Amino acid sequence: MEYGYPKGHVFYRKLTRTYPLITRGEGIYLYDENGKRYIDGSGGALVVNIGHGQKEILEKMSEQMGQVGYVHGTQFTTKSIEEYGEALGEILPKGLGKIYFLSGGSESIEAAIKLARQYFLESGQSQRWRVVARWHSYHGNTLGALSLTGRISMRRPYLPLLIDFPHFPPPYCYRCPFGLTYPECGLECAKVLEQVIRMEGPETISAVILEPIGGATIGALVPPDGYLSVIRAICDRYGILLIDDEVMTGMGRTGRWFAVEHWGISTDIMVLGKGISGGYFPLSAMITRSEYVDRLKEKSGGFVHGHTFSHHPVACAVGFAVVEYIKKNQLVEKSSSRGEYLLRRLEELKDFSFVGDVRGKGLMTAIEFVKDQKTKEPFPRTAKFTERVIDSAFENGLVLYPGTGFVDGVNGDMVMVGPPLIIEENQIDEIIEILKKTFSKME
Ligand SMILES: Cc1ncc(COP(=O)(O)O)c(C=O)c1O
Repeated sequence: MEYGYPKGHVFYRKLTRTYPLITRGEGIYLYDENGKRYIDGSGGALVVNIGHGQKEILEKMSEQMGQVGYVHGTQFTTKSIEEYGEALGEILPKGLGKIYFLSGGSESIEAAIKLARQYFLESGQSQRWRVVARWHSYHGNTLGALSLTGRISMRRPYLPLLIDFPHFPPPYCYRCPFGLTYPECGLECAKVLEQVIRMEGPETISAVILEPIGGATIGALVPPDGYLSVIRAICDRYGILLIDDEVMTGMGRTGRWFAVEHWGISTDIMVLGKGISGGYFPLSAMITRSEYVDRLKEKSGGFVHGHTFSHHPVACAVGFAVVEYIKKNQLVEKSSSRGEYLLRRLEELKDFSFVGDVRGKGLMTAIEFVKDQKTKEPFPRTAKFTERVIDSAFENGLVLYPGTGFVDGVNGDMVMVGPPLIIEENQIDEIIEILKKTFSKME
């Protein structure tokens, strides 16, 4: 049986393809109804951090469902919410301690923008409401989050609906936006933030938001050392909050619990999603400092925000089980060591003429494709190079995550490799074999 538009009643995410029907997931593998096996090489969209089919998660989830499936977040709490808050609180970077549970990354980004705004409103700085973000970033698809997102193709159809949030260029050393080379560049890409803030009016800016390692739009973009400290210092100079979007990078994905820990940077609001539940249940979190929440309590009495499914008892039970699983199986450490191995093996792919760059940290990696390795000229978008790689790898039983348009808003091709953190070295070898087979066909 074939699934896909226009058959049936489902409004599919993509209208131009057919979908295999998955009946089982186990570890890093997915199986469809015909028994075909796929390596979940990107864990969906870098979500499946602890692998598929983990019985411990199911047990915790059904235990909570058996007790109570839902209570409203303004009326009750449950043991699962309290227990999870404590467990997550223990691993958070210093200074961050108050956790607002939500259902998805975009939702938590919205909450972060609003928290920054309400905090300033109640601190006598009512003119501060704008958030500065980066081009070629991804912060979500709801209108507030999309206003921050720097992915041109996703913004363009909705431009009239977006909020006027300024953007600055990413630390894209492979194609430096200033034509410079690290470290002689003096981190111009970070310093330019100050120029943007001054032009826009520092007194109007509530926060700067960034993915500490660029994700789905630009592909595992690791900033040069020193970059985040410069950003932090600029925020401090103008009394601006720093929002750390760890939706993709958090929960061990990059070899630390949180990516900012690679550089020892403190932030004011952190957003988690994706791997926080390993995909077992919709869950995300907006996390901040006690002092900001204290201000809200003193002034208006609370955060003027909320959703029906925030602080969901079952979601929190799943989140708790996932943290426990990551700790018990030392997946943060594994992500670091397996990530080094993966990156080393991905380097071999540079033998293919169209592999321009290979980058990443921990088990968050990406391969950037170019028409010409020497000049770094990208393929024209009309060639749909990324889509062809994705389809061919899929055919060969490997799921990858695509990204396009990051070179100039139109062109730019990459795939992300971000398997579950439970992956073994021999399974990484399997991924490399399939990539080589796929790339040989492309050549
Ligand atoms: C860094 C980052 N922030 C926010 C989001 C939005 O999360 P969601 O798709 O759960 O709304 C994503 C999703 O890809 C993301 O990667």
